[in-house]
Amino acid sequence: MLLKDKVVVITGGAGLNGLGFATGRLMAAHGARVVVLDLEGADPAGAAAKLGPGHLGIVADVTDKASCEAATVEVLKAFGTIDALINNAGVTQPVKTLEISGADYDRVLDVSLRGTLYMSQAVLPAMQQQRSGSIVCISSVSAQRGGGILGGPHYSAAKAGVLGLARAMAREFGPEGIRINSITPGLIGTDIIKGKLTDEKKAEIAETIPLARLGRAEDIAGACVFLASDLSLYCTGITLDVNGGMLIH
Ligand SMILES: NC(=O)c1ccc[n+]([C@@H]2O[C@H](COP(=O)([O-])OP(=O)(O)OC[C@H]3O[C@@H](n4cnc5c(N)ncnc54)[C@H](O)[C@@H]3O)[C@@H](O)[C@H]2O)c1
Repeated sequence: MLLKDKVVVITGGAGLNGLGFATGRLMAAHGARVVVLDLEGADPAGAAAKLGPGHLGIVADVTDKASCEAATVEVLKAFGTIDALINNAGVTQPVKTLEISGADYDRVLDVSLRGTLYMSQAVLPAMQQQRSGSIVCISSVSAQRGGGILGGPHYSAAKAGVLGLARAMAREFGPEGIRINSITPGLIGTDIIKGKLTDEKKAEIAETIPLARLGRAEDIAGACVFLASDLSLYCTGITLDVNGGMLIH
């Protein structure tokens, strides 16, 4: 049990095939009380119930500061503490540079980057009071290699922004016992890529990956458990690549 009685908030955690829900499942198995935070249409309460008793689902929009703050108040009311935050909510869009509209830019940047800032701002005061906490920010290999497979340049920019934000926050809050790290997933088979790649294309991509397969949501869940738990107590400001060797640098 690596997370016994730890309270963990996972944004964008309600998609049953997603990285966030897989992370919630593994964290619950390690004894955590999981808060699934997601948009209303994603049914976070239903997802939390699927994790078993004692978990909580909260409707919140990470692009809305008041919504992030209200969700945090609700978590603290229910559990009294927040030990870890997984900034996982994100949206992508497979378009090229010249096709990106202002609205596209806002949508993609707002969920990943503004959302990471707002949710971190919301939970940090509680972590400061406790003088402990772990924040994990889900970036992407797309930030490092200049495009993943499906995201446009604005997605790469959002995810690169997440890396910079996480590193700067790590420097700022380390002295208060709060660790902030990032994960850069490679291509993971979740709803975000559903219907966008043929089986042939997936096989073609797998051939270029040293570990010879696409990632699974569980691969990212394991990395999140490591970074949220005391196993990683001396890690802050790091970027953990979970990409099967797709990018070795
Ligand atoms: N699947 C991949 O290949 C891959 C690779 C690299 C990074 N990522 C990142 O991993 C994270 C999870 O993606 P996934 O693949 O599980 O996709 P997903 O679509 O299953 O999960 C994204 C979740 O974010 C939620 N969400 C969207 N906007 C929100 C908002 N404003 N407020 C709260 N929640 C919101 C969605 O409802 C959804 O549940 C994303 O940040 C994504 O960019 C995914």
